[in-house]
Amino acid sequence: MDYRALHRRSIDDPSGFWGEQSQQIAWMRAPTQVLAQDENGADRWFVDGLLNTCDLAVDQHVRAGRGECTAVLYDSPVTGTQARISYATLQQRVASIAGGLRALGVERGDRVVIYMPMVPEALMAMLACARLGAVHVVVFGGFAAPELAIRIDSVAPKVLLTASCGIEPKGVVPYQPMVDEALRRAAHPPSQCVVLQRPQALFELQADRDLDWHDFESAASPVEPVPVAATDPLYILHTSGTTGRPKGVVRDNGGHAVALTYSMGAIYAMNPGDVYWAASDIGWVVGHSYIVYGPLLAGCTTVLYEGKPVGTPDASAFWRVISEHRVQAFFTAPTAFRAIKKADPEARAMRPHDLSSLRHLFLAGERLDPPTYEWLRTHLDVPVLDHWWQTETGWAIAANPAGLALQPSKPGSATFPAPGFNVQVLDSQGAPLPTGETGNITIRRPLPPGCLPTLWNDHPRCQAAYFERYPGHYLTGDGGHFDADGYLFVMGRTDDVINVAGHRLSTGEMEEVVARHPAVAECAVVGVQDDLKGQLPLGLVVLKDGADIDPAQLQSELVQQVREAIGPIACFRTALVVERLPKTRSGKVLRNVLRKIADGEPHPPPPTIDDPAILEEIETVLENRLLREKG
Ligand code: COA
Ligand code: AMP
Repeated sequence: MDYRALHRRSIDDPSGFWGEQSQQIAWMRAPTQVLAQDENGADRWFVDGLLNTCDLAVDQHVRAGRGECTAVLYDSPVTGTQARISYATLQQRVASIAGGLRALGVERGDRVVIYMPMVPEALMAMLACARLGAVHVVVFGGFAAPELAIRIDSVAPKVLLTASCGIEPKGVVPYQPMVDEALRRAAHPPSQCVVLQRPQALFELQADRDLDWHDFESAASPVEPVPVAATDPLYILHTSGTTGRPKGVVRDNGGHAVALTYSMGAIYAMNPGDVYWAASDIGWVVGHSYIVYGPLLAGCTTVLYEGKPVGTPDASAFWRVISEHRVQAFFTAPTAFRAIKKADPEARAMRPHDLSSLRHLFLAGERLDPPTYEWLRTHLDVPVLDHWWQTETGWAIAANPAGLALQPSKPGSATFPAPGFNVQVLDSQGAPLPTGETGNITIRRPLPPGCLPTLWNDHPRCQAAYFERYPGHYLTGDGGHFDADGYLFVMGRTDDVINVAGHRLSTGEMEEVVARHPAVAECAVVGVQDDLKGQLPLGLVVLKDGADIDPAQLQSELVQQVREAIGPIACFRTALVVERLPKTRSGKVLRNVLRKIADGEPHPPPPTIDDPAILEEIETVLENRLLREKG
């Protein structure tokens, strides 16, 4: 098949293309209209269709006689447990959890916050919400209490589903202090919490607020899937923007089910019964799309892995899981392989494992850097496929379509735009740039099914953030170029979002936290290159006149402040004191120049700089720091 012709057709005739794809799913009422615009002028797919995403992900496989097939393989090296959950068991447990939620008053359209580690109940909780037509809002376990509180307030949930602890290689992370603190802070706390007790740490239940998960589930009457409109929200997932307020990306039911079902075949080459493993976390979009919904919609077995690439117990962890569970498609972030490569440069830990089941390796979350790509190519005998996507799109914008027609890979490129994505590279004025020239990457409307229709309760912000800069286009926030063969190279963010170990974080948010310190007059946080995590945040602070604080003490206080406000996942570890920050004559901090200095790149002073001498001062501070680090 000619992939380019197929892609062209998806762009020239989106309604025809996606109308056909929509027939792959079992609607409760098939849509008659493929593409329309809503009251906000946003593109909406399959508007008059009715479906239930949980029915498609679970019940339809049981109805088809596949109830005894394995839906979920739970593999948890941190607790030393494994479990195999069939589609029939999944259906029965999800129906009961949905019944428990209904007994607490949760109905179609209500929000439920899920703050849980990587345990089967977390996945079941998401599906139970989908079954009721309720909207789940998963919050990653590495976020601190204030982040949980912000997300609670942004959606005003009826119920919070949580657990007594998460388990990190360094030890048990009790959730109670974070949950209690978040509920104290929140202006719109839920009236009920349901707590999954894990033996590693107990949660002291508050009689008027908390229910034990076991009681909640066992007392419930199972419920059937509730038909919902294709345009009803399935979930809200918050992601970092350029300010301290995260964006609540909304995902609808219909477009999502069609897009993910399509992607499982077209991009991942998966068939029902195949084993698919995305080593991410349900707190991120990769976890939503490819730990939970994608594999289950496609009738595959999904691996739910509660562990790390290294340290649980060592760099053999991924190879063990692939060989033990006969994984056919594996998906993770490049940073995970950089960690493995660092611990085991010759990939010796791979050798005892039979990896013959593996057909493709998929990477995303950050650019697959050429050295990691080459290392993987040397050691693995399967195609190594980078693909680029975002929380907002929910599935790959650019990929090597393994299920349609595998293309030769090029190091550093995510290959071609995926079907339905009309990707453009524009200059600052909105003109398309010639091949090879780097600019802002946009997607021409309509965005294909599965992409965000809006931000929760804030359509004006959605318009301003994504659709105003280039009318008729969605602004991805990434920069890059096409080469002469049409391969897309995504080189990095063009805004103040950074990517730390495949996690998307806002430097603006960290600046807000750092600026709260009583000794800090002003600050800038920039992302600097890191061999393991891709980027790490670096804080540069200017002290208030007369502030008398030792720089090491200040750094440790700021690090603690960021851990408490955002979470350990921010990996904020360095804050250096400088005399002044470089600014434009209009007073804007030149963060890009700071980043270049920190990365040792050429940094000619921009013409708008108010005082070029500042750059030398900052170079000296950074050089001194480097010298200290080298001993
Ligand atoms: N709950 C609580 N704390 C968490 C957490 C969670 N779910 N996840 C991470 N943290 C904490 C860690 O314990 C660590 O805390 P510390 O500063 O006290 O040590 C901190 O957040 C940073 O965690 P992490 O990024 O995991 O760093 P690491 O140095 O322990 O491990 C890697 C490095 C590369 C192994 C790890 O980042 C990794 O596995 N990355 C892959 C990421 C990924 O899959 N991304 C998904 C996108 S597809
Ligand atoms: P998130 O919304 O957390 O998934 O992060 C999305 C951001 O991660 C994108 O905007 C990119 O900056 C980056 N990203 C994800 N995958 C890739 C990739 N394959 N290549 C380059 N950047 C990527």
